[in-house]
Amino acid sequence: MWSDGPLCYGGDYNPEQWPARVWAEDVALMRQARVNLVTVGVFAWSRLEPAPGRYTFDWLDQVLDLLHAGGIRVALATPTASPPPWFSLAHPGALPVTADGVRLHHGSRDTYCAAAPAYRQAARRIAAALADRYAHHPALALWHVHNEYGTTCHCEHTARAFRRWLTTRHGDLATLNDAWTTSFWSQHYSDWAQISTPRATQYLANPGQLLDFRRFWSDTLLAAYAEQRDLLRAANPAIPITTNYVLGDWVPVDHARWAAEVDVVAVDHYPSAVDVGAEEQTALAGDLARGWAQHAAACRPAPATAAGRGSPAVPDHGAPAAPAWLLMESAPNQIHTAGRIHAKEPGRMLRHSLAHVARGSRGAMFFQWRAPTGGAERFHSALVPHAGPDSRVFREAVELGAALARLTEVDGRVEASVAIAVDAASGWALRHPGLPSTRLDHHEEVAAAHRALWHAGYGCDTVTPGDPLDGYRLLVLPALYLAGDATADWVREYVRGGGHLLATYLSGAADEHARVRPGGYPGALRDLLGVRAEEFHPLAEGDHIPLAGGGTGRIWAETLHLAGADAVTSYAGGILDGRPAVTRHRWGAGTTWYVSTRPDEDTYRRLLDTAARAAGAAPVHPDAPAGVEAVRRRGERVSWLFLFNHTDREQRVPARGVELLTDAPVDAALALPPGGVAVLRESGT
Ligand code: GAL
Repeated sequence: MWSDGPLCYGGDYNPEQWPARVWAEDVALMRQARVNLVTVGVFAWSRLEPAPGRYTFDWLDQVLDLLHAGGIRVALATPTASPPPWFSLAHPGALPVTADGVRLHHGSRDTYCAAAPAYRQAARRIAAALADRYAHHPALALWHVHNEYGTTCHCEHTARAFRRWLTTRHGDLATLNDAWTTSFWSQHYSDWAQISTPRATQYLANPGQLLDFRRFWSDTLLAAYAEQRDLLRAANPAIPITTNYVLGDWVPVDHARWAAEVDVVAVDHYPSAVDVGAEEQTALAGDLARGWAQHAAACRPAPATAAGRGSPAVPDHGAPAAPAWLLMESAPNQIHTAGRIHAKEPGRMLRHSLAHVARGSRGAMFFQWRAPTGGAERFHSALVPHAGPDSRVFREAVELGAALARLTEVDGRVEASVAIAVDAASGWALRHPGLPSTRLDHHEEVAAAHRALWHAGYGCDTVTPGDPLDGYRLLVLPALYLAGDATADWVREYVRGGGHLLATYLSGAADEHARVRPGGYPGALRDLLGVRAEEFHPLAEGDHIPLAGGGTGRIWAETLHLAGADAVTSYAGGILDGRPAVTRHRWGAGTTWYVSTRPDEDTYRRLLDTAARAAGAAPVHPDAPAGVEAVRRRGERVSWLFLFNHTDREQRVPARGVELLTDAPVDAALALPPGGVAVLRESGT
């Protein structure tokens, strides 16, 4: 159901936290809200296997049957993110160890080491038991493996696995020593056994070791996922399988690399800003999820199956297949920000949900269905809050269910003329100690470029280096610090063929082992950009550097020499006075821009708007008033326009078609109330 039919609506359902008498009310309320999919069992391991190998499935049988009778499908989770107490007692060596060497104990969740054989075996066993019992249950729509892979560990199991992984990656020690530059600080390894995980050490750790550890750990978690997936698939190949991604720069998972291993990319999204920042983050999360789904589609041929696995069904209106993804978790009500909980304003749950649907999500799912009375997350919001169904949140949940039911026909590709490159390894490498500034952050650079383009009204895709770039007018590299030769060639081919490129500082400065490319920054891309940066000038928090013609730069500045490019903007004042800050260069059949600082928000928006227009890109809805977001999905014969009013005033938006949430025809313009959403089946586009 994730790939066609009604949009998915529901969330994490934890019946094990409630007496059985509440379950019937749950199903009745779900039906009232038109919930059609719930994630069950995600943290239920101790209730499913109270003692090793002894299973208590009776309650889950009842729950699944009840849901099925109510017409509600199930995303059945494997509960492996929270091993039961008996497991930790029996296998203390499978508890995780921090980089400081501290072994963590049972008492929260995620207290396991994903490289520990005992954990892996226990995880496979409970997954197999669930597969055995439920793989053909009529309520089963999706397997949800684990929850938010994201823990790390530094125990001996991990160290052994790391060494094995390194032998595969580097082949021999000479290659590893070279990649890690171990001649620095006497770190040369003469035996694999000398290598450990990057544990807490005296001073700065080796950047090559840190980076490979991240890559290794992502692969280790992926292997833990894949072995569960394979046994679930063997039990019933018709059921799609996924795991929910957690977003954040701390996450040790390369989501792009994982995307080809899941049947549907599923993401959890919890904005951290309360104001328009929450809308910006929502838009970025949706574009990232779609980017991973597109990356997966580019990496593998879609399996031709009528069973609904892997390839979205071609909809009636003939829309080109759009890689599907699913918003697996979001908060019905609150936004957590700086230790405080902010209640989402009325209408915001709908707006955030439809912002994800606009960007390709096959629905809107929440954490969680019913607010628990105890447990660590007792004050987390829920579709059925502590106040019960007689509440604003539940009424809005009912409205959201009705709205989603009206959008079944929406499909097609999301219109995007700009691509932003995202690279997990660049994100990890820019977090290393020993860089010129602690403020360098690939993900924040991605967010800044996305924000600027979002405010300027452009549709953006996120891409992984190596992805096809046909059809994009502009490619943005936001501090894409690591560029191996393959990445550099990928960029080069795009520009050679006429593409427009905008690269920000440090893009291409280092190779895939995080070794600086000598000869001047930004290393691999110098000729393409027609510049050579000789020195960097990191700026302190709160500092800014004036730019000639207005605006300021933050975070970073460079002593930049022109080597073929023209200066677009220069620094004004100080030691960089008159030196280029932003440049433009013609190369191949294309154009490249280099931005050696982080311009303030307005300047960056204007700059990206200029670069995008020069590249032939246009905003999704050029006549939309400021503060109104437009996202278009395009099928072959039909298009749908999502409009979001992020202002506190009514806005008139030129549009034609039928508004699907109200069924109202729109002839020339639509009046969008403050905070309102509209979805038009367009005519005349
Ligand atoms: C998610 C997690 C859920 C719940 C939620 C709270 O990251 O998957 O289990 O903890 O956060 O916001």
